[in-house]
Amino acid sequence: MRLADRVAVITGAGSGIGRASALLFAQEGARVVVADVEATGGAETVRLIQQQGGAAAFVRTDVTRPADVQRMLDTALEQYGRLDVLFNNAGLAMPFTPIEQVDEALLDRLLAVNVKGVFFGCQLAAPMLKRQRSGVILNTASTAGIRPRPGLSAYNMTKGAVITLTKTLALELAPYQVRVVALCPVATDSPMLPAFIGDQDPAEARRRFIESIPLGRLNTPEDLARAALWLASDEAAMVTGTAFEVDGGRDV
Ligand SMILES: NC(=O)c1ccc[n+]([C@@H]2O[C@H](COP(=O)([O-])OP(=O)(O)OC[C@H]3O[C@@H](n4cnc5c(N)ncnc54)[C@H](O)[C@@H]3O)[C@@H](O)[C@H]2O)c1
Repeated sequence: MRLADRVAVITGAGSGIGRASALLFAQEGARVVVADVEATGGAETVRLIQQQGGAAAFVRTDVTRPADVQRMLDTALEQYGRLDVLFNNAGLAMPFTPIEQVDEALLDRLLAVNVKGVFFGCQLAAPMLKRQRSGVILNTASTAGIRPRPGLSAYNMTKGAVITLTKTLALELAPYQVRVVALCPVATDSPMLPAFIGDQDPAEARRRFIESIPLGRLNTPEDLARAALWLASDEAAMVTGTAFEVDGGRDV
């Protein structure tokens, strides 16, 4: 078991990539704090983990609120005694929109969840991990931060910021043997996908996404969960500061 005796906190774990990762991490021995702003999805993830014989606890967490993020991290310590892996994965999408039509409320929301949410997780976990002199932070960025598509200006910008934050912290925390890695999925068949695709001819939009991926298919949430598991495990002990692409060749 690759995460035996480890404690992982995963945000956005009530759906998609976060849920698939929570289930896989638990199968590999981790005790998991499932964090999400949506209680129903979070509780369902915990139920699925317990059903497969694993240990998990749900903490309703809005990652844009530092007090919530602190409570989420404290839960790992109180319930399971330590924190080994923080997976800052919660995020929001946007529909394809020319920049002049991106309204400020959407821009603020994307920055709050995708950038500040990841920042708060890193900022509040750093003292614990530094004290421990071990640990891994995984931040979900996107191929959007490496090979952006037109029409997603605000979203792409947030994912670029996550990659830069990740690289900065990889250097800042390396003296403490704490690794920090960004996970960069290409389009993934999760509940988020329709938000990118929009409602104008979804079948055609999906076809165009697939056509842009050399391996010829979308990611599944499980593709990302397997990559996250490896990155979180000791098998990736020399991997830090990387923007790790799971993209079927999209970024080549
Ligand atoms: N689906 C894709 O095509 C794709 C591609 C590249 C990157 N990503 C990134 O992957 C991550 C996970 O996305 P997904 O595809 O699993 O989407 P998803 O919509 O299935 O899951 C996102 C989860 O984040 C939660 N969330 C949203 N705002 C939150 C907040 N303020 N606090 C806490 N939780 C919050 C949602 O409730 C949801 O459960 C995101 O960061 C996303 O940007 C997704």
